Amino acid sequence: MSLQLSSRQVAERTQAVVEDLAQLEGPLLPILHEVQKEFGCVPEEALRTIAEALNLSRAEVHGVASFYHDFRKEPAGRHVLKICRAEACQSMGGDALADGVRSALGIDWHETTPDGRVTLEPVYCLGLCSCAPAAMLDGELHGRLDETAIRELVKETGR
Ligand code: FES
Repeated sequence: MSLQLSSRQVAERTQAVVEDLAQLEGPLLPILHEVQKEFGCVPEEALRTIAEALNLSRAEVHGVASFYHDFRKEPAGRHVLKICRAEACQSMGGDALADGVRSALGIDWHETTPDGRVTLEPVYCLGLCSCAPAAMLDGELHGRLDETAIRELVKETGR
């Protein structure tokens, strides 16, 4: 999925976000969050606008945006499936489940299916370790997953 806005539109809308939040202490993260809410991602043009407005280098702003995996370069698909890859889930077969999902969807981590249906993200602990392996679909937690349950989750993304 791509962003259907001109660079100028992105810059103008980003500028408005910056003006709203620039007075906060440590405004960069709140601005990045708000920009992502506005566009579904943090476009390159927005990084440029933010850097200029906050008097930071583009490298600094880019560094922060790329450090936090929640900030996307492209908008996510209609559904976001996050599969836990941390230790407790790994020890309960999470890797095999994740491999099955990647192969069923034909995409890798951080990718979106060509029809824009689902984006697949790794996550490192969902706080559901006692119910490992775990995943999150569109913000909803699912634990004690097995092949059938995760297949059902993937199916939900097609509804
Ligand atoms: S390790 Fe997967 S939920 Fe904690």
